[in-house]
Amino acid sequence: MLNRLETARKLLDSRDQGHLLQEFESLDSQAAEQLLDQVESLHWDVIDQARDVISGVGEAAVDPDCLAPVEAHVPDTDSAGSLRSAGEEAIAAGQVAALTVAGGQGTRLGWNGPKGTYPATPVSGKPLFACFAEQLRAVRHRYGAGVPWYIITSPENDSSTRNFLLDNKCFGLDRDSIMLVQQGTMPSFDAETGHILLSGPGRIATSPDGHGGSLDALHRSGALSDMESRGTTIISYSQVDNPLAKIIDPVFIGLHVDEAHSSGEASSKMVLKTDPAERVGVFGLLEGRTCVIEYSDLPGTMASAVDADGRLRFHAANIAMHLFSLSFIQSIVGEGGKGLPWHRAVKEVPSWNPETRKLQKPSGPNAVKLERFIFDVLGCAKRSAILATERAEEFAPIKNAQGPDSQTTSFQIQSDLFAHWLEERGVVIPWTSEGHVDAAIEIAPGTAMSSGEIPSELLPSSIEPGSSMLL
Ligand code: UTP
Repeated sequence: MLNRLETARKLLDSRDQGHLLQEFESLDSQAAEQLLDQVESLHWDVIDQARDVISGVGEAAVDPDCLAPVEAHVPDTDSAGSLRSAGEEAIAAGQVAALTVAGGQGTRLGWNGPKGTYPATPVSGKPLFACFAEQLRAVRHRYGAGVPWYIITSPENDSSTRNFLLDNKCFGLDRDSIMLVQQGTMPSFDAETGHILLSGPGRIATSPDGHGGSLDALHRSGALSDMESRGTTIISYSQVDNPLAKIIDPVFIGLHVDEAHSSGEASSKMVLKTDPAERVGVFGLLEGRTCVIEYSDLPGTMASAVDADGRLRFHAANIAMHLFSLSFIQSIVGEGGKGLPWHRAVKEVPSWNPETRKLQKPSGPNAVKLERFIFDVLGCAKRSAILATERAEEFAPIKNAQGPDSQTTSFQIQSDLFAHWLEERGVVIPWTSEGHVDAAIEIAPGTAMSSGEIPSELLPSSIEPGSSMLL
């Protein structure tokens, strides 16, 4: 222990982080061991290299002047049909794996448990994980091929995610088709001094290393090799917080494998951005390569600029749905790959003060977290396709406890979508003057994944105002 302490002290002093051992003498032996374990396991090579990013001087923001808008692919009925067939072929051949990133902390939602366990559907209150598992069951039933499901967790939520899935019998999926992969963590730094923060006596404050960290975790854990052995060539990426995400979409997969549109390395979905102030990243082209520029990095004049059609010039909003080829991801995070860059995120992190021996709640953003962003891989693809999709059909995110992007707004978007499906089939719908349905409606993926698939015998003639309907 003494040797370890001496080595840790030298390591920390040489980096001006000696304060981490300030209370070492007062810790019991278990806590002392744990602190040394933590110090030894931090990625010091990354921390050393990211020093400028941490202090905020090294991050190369995208130069908006070099940014051009993207043209997304809008399939017509004929082309959608042929894309669908190509995608279905890949699914039936067992070439597609699903990847759900669920390692975030979900601070804004404030739910006591992994976000994937949050009730997300308007009538049955099905948890997010169940929404996706049902889609995968429906896909298996339809195409006769299973889709392996990789779920990214964090050290904090891994065991509760695992227990939740097991307690629910994996929602009817084969247990060996679900793989949980723990992503890495990084320490939080004081935004002013660069000192690593403590979360308690002798405990270093850490947080997951961003959704982009999922790729490194897939490599490190052997999940990329596992995919290879299962015959996966395409990874279908989505986030845990969108119950309407089509986690396996044949039309999207068809576009991705179509050489006329894409090099087959990376493809993305977009929805139309209509409000310049919407806090959403947009796709752009930098030197001919696709990138995502965060709303905070897009100058106001560019965000509100319109093109000749009256559309926002940067109208392609990123909804974090991507397809990647396995070999492309291996070339980035596998042996010899250059990995993804680190970004600086300034957030509120409570920190332990060893002087006062109190946990301080910050009154504003006080800490720098180091994160990787998944969309940084897009720039490595030679030619990537972007599929235009309807916001009302695919995007009902749950990020906040209240207000925009909350359970309430998501329930309404889902009910409205399913009401439109029913109306297309002749059902009379009670619409409000704001254009929303005055009812809670839910159609499970196992029942139908589009209007035309709803079995006729399940269709009512009308929906009563204020009622609930689950199909
Ligand atoms: P968000 O950026 O919305 O973050 O993540 P979050 O952690 O869920 O929520 P807040 O910001 O603390 O309120 C978008 C998606 O990326 C995943 C999340 O689980 C979510 O599916 N994610 C985020 C990770 O898997 N790992 C991370 O380190 C960060």
